[in-house]
Amino acid sequence: MVVIEVENNVSSLKTQLLVDCVFTDEVSSLSLSGITLDFDPLIREIIASKEFNAKSGSICLIHNNAGSNIKRALLLGLGDKKNFNPEKMRNLIGKVVNKSKELGINEFALIPFKNMDQDHLSATVEGIKLSDYSFNNYKTDEDKTDLNQVRILIKNDLEKNQNIIHDSTIVSDAVIFCRNLSNLPPNDCSPKDLANFSVKLSNNQKVKVRIIENGEMESYGLGGILAVGKGSSSSPKLIIIEYSGSTKNEKPIVIVGKAVTFDTGGISIKPSEKMDEMKFDKCGGCNVLGIMKAVSGLNLDNNVIGIIPSVENMPSGSSYRPGDIIKMYNRKTVEVLNTDAEGRIILADALAFAVKTFQPKAIIDMATLTGAAIIALGTNVAAMMGNDKELVTKIIEYSNQTGEKIWELPLYDEYKEQLKSSNADMKNIGGRSAGAITAGAFLSNFVDETPWVHLDIAGTAWNQEGTQEKTYNPKGATGFGIRTIVKYIRNNNLKK
Ligand code: BES
Ligand code: MG
Ligand code: ZN
Repeated sequence: MVVIEVENNVSSLKTQLLVDCVFTDEVSSLSLSGITLDFDPLIREIIASKEFNAKSGSICLIHNNAGSNIKRALLLGLGDKKNFNPEKMRNLIGKVVNKSKELGINEFALIPFKNMDQDHLSATVEGIKLSDYSFNNYKTDEDKTDLNQVRILIKNDLEKNQNIIHDSTIVSDAVIFCRNLSNLPPNDCSPKDLANFSVKLSNNQKVKVRIIENGEMESYGLGGILAVGKGSSSSPKLIIIEYSGSTKNEKPIVIVGKAVTFDTGGISIKPSEKMDEMKFDKCGGCNVLGIMKAVSGLNLDNNVIGIIPSVENMPSGSSYRPGDIIKMYNRKTVEVLNTDAEGRIILADALAFAVKTFQPKAIIDMATLTGAAIIALGTNVAAMMGNDKELVTKIIEYSNQTGEKIWELPLYDEYKEQLKSSNADMKNIGGRSAGAITAGAFLSNFVDETPWVHLDIAGTAWNQEGTQEKTYNPKGATGFGIRTIVKYIRNNNLKK
């Protein structure tokens, strides 16, 4: 995995590739003379000929004929300074990472733009680490160049900048940790496997992990998770990860994530085309693991609890059926009219359990919940619903900073009407119209008055090549949502 460091000794810099970030307004005065004189004559020619204009995303590679310690220089165009933002930084530095791989080199040195602030430095680290990621644990003959090291050339405020790099590295590594789990094939990631991975988080002293198994689930009355889980030979698990970074009397923030390790649809079985992608139906739960990893790695002073209901949704002689009426943890009854609408059932139990057990100050859930969310917003924007204006507004604010696009959908009472059942308190599907919203409306029956938001990440949780716009989201799981939620948690401790 690539290590990102600060380098302040530029006079003796030795590197395969020196990257300089250039705004269009600075291109005419471009010079690398602060580091080396080798490139300046060529740079002047390149600028005079307009071969490089620093347009956003433009790249110019220059080899060093003088044969010094710096083998090549790469000019990276950032476009207009006034329109620049951290998300552009993430995407553009991702381009450089891809280029360096193409060149077969394993390190580069980066000159940040003048007066780069904290947010752009964080974005640089995230962009490098997240675009460098690839999932190839299962390829036996993979011959690829790994990026090992990136040095960022910084002269001032060394310690402060080192801290920023350190924290951004922890958050990025948490996203990568999540991607590695989310990308696992379903034969290597059953609910039990996921529980075992989770238990490892308790290596951190402030983290306690508890796994609720079948028997205990029955005594608690977690009827939703039990019903969905019973068709599989891998039994369901309810994973609870408690991080205590503050005093006992501070109410926790609870993060809940759907982890269906494979979603066949059950008896209401899905078509076989692309069914393999339903290994990604555990992404919400894997996000929770990533968030808990970041929160504990950053040693935040909040209390945070991660809850992951994990099942495999399979058709078999012991599966739950369309027509079944199940009793949920909060004693409400649900008529199952489609066994493929399983995510809301297991989440509902987990949400109700969280409200009753932990009295959270806020609950956020994440789930690959509906195909309808993709129809509504596509594959680059997640759908959000919630019952608390302040919480919703904060999540939007942080999402604007992380580049994880989130859009709020309404939860008017009339959507709840669509869930009315003639035989039980509600049914688990609300018909074709407003499919993402009726799923959210279903969940709203299980959180009481607790401030809550639901993120439907069905479109954003993974990337089939070509469907996502970002250089730093390679094929496979993205970890979408982790950076936004970690930002929310960091800004919500007692001291702030
Ligand atoms: N895991 C799926 C949702 C999904 C589908 C996510 C495609 C990403 C891509 C979920 O369990 C599901 O099957 N939902 C159904 C609900 C329907 C039966 C009301 C859906 O969206 O079709
Ligand atoms: Mg389903
Ligand atoms: Zn599902």
